[in-house]
Amino acid sequence: MPLMSTKPMFDLAYDGGFAIGAFNVNNMELAQSIIEACAKEKSPCILQISKGARKYANIRYLKHIIDAAVEDHPEVPVCIHCDHGDTIDLIKTCINDGYTSVMIDGSHHAYEENVKLTAEAVKVSHAAGVVVEAELGMLGGIEEDVVGMDAHEYEKNVEKFLTDPQQAADFGKRTGLDSLAVAIGTSHGAFKFKHEAKLAFNRIEEIMKTCPGIPLVMHGSSSVPQEFIDLVNKYGGAMPNAKGVPEDQISMAVRKYGVCKVNIDTDLRLAMTAKIREVFATKPAEFDPRNYLGPAREAIISMVQRKLHVLNSAGKAEAVIAQWKKLGSPMPTYYTHKKAG
Ligand code: G3H
Ligand code: 13P
Ligand code: ZN
Repeated sequence: MPLMSTKPMFDLAYDGGFAIGAFNVNNMELAQSIIEACAKEKSPCILQISKGARKYANIRYLKHIIDAAVEDHPEVPVCIHCDHGDTIDLIKTCINDGYTSVMIDGSHHAYEENVKLTAEAVKVSHAAGVVVEAELGMLGGIEEDVVGMDAHEYEKNVEKFLTDPQQAADFGKRTGLDSLAVAIGTSHGAFKFKHEAKLAFNRIEEIMKTCPGIPLVMHGSSSVPQEFIDLVNKYGGAMPNAKGVPEDQISMAVRKYGVCKVNIDTDLRLAMTAKIREVFATKPAEFDPRNYLGPAREAIISMVQRKLHVLNSAGKAEAVIAQWKKLGSPMPTYYTHKKAG
């Protein structure tokens, strides 16, 4: 059962020229598609669950769906991660729900408050064998349950929101975090840039220097492929001016600058939405959900496969499992207790 924390994954990704894709799960079709794509591409993955997903799907259902996915594909190394956790109570709940990794996002707090919250999350999580991602700097974009700001306003003032490399070093030392989500010009959602889409590569390079050994994470990393926006718009949608981070820049951040985890949600939503719109527009009499969710699931599988190549994680499953075994096949206490009955 290769359910693991991100540690064996990041051990290899750190200077291996690849990153682990962290894909958001909100329902059965998404979970099935992500695991299926990873099985096809022999890739590890992170299945991440936001607060909104817990609320939408009811975590009890989501847990069983994810357990089924893991059971269905025991050859895929999987990490179950809490995306944008914001309180210690939520972190504790996620640990008790069997997550193997959590994010505590205190980036919208004042610095000292962020340090305090993150250090507490690390204490609670490490005691249970769970790893912690924390965030410093400010991403743009407005998503439900994610504090951010208007993407255009963000773009105009981007420099002042980027992660400060010196502060990042201090943050790492004082909190004991396992990975760091950085603001380097990305933002959440489908409308990331009004002008030129450009990541602050020099900033990633500086943070890599001040924070050696800390795996870096990029949120807001969907590319919003134009062909999917065109399909959405062709079949009745209205998403003018949608723009993401070009895939060659994501690939460069991973292969050249060493980013270890890349969060992608919007591109999966787009693949799903474009296909459902197409079915509805071309077959107006269709009303069997299996006949639009089925094709949507196929579209998500292709999208995830495409991402696994951008992230260069295709073919890395076996090596990650070997690294996990080398570390002694560590499992959070939730699983060791479960096994012990
Ligand atoms: O970063 C946020 C993810 O895209 C999750 O979005 O809060 O709407 O589930 P959500
Ligand atoms: P996108 O909106 O770019 O897919 O980012 C998702 C994300 O960062 C989830 O935490
Ligand atoms: Zn995010």
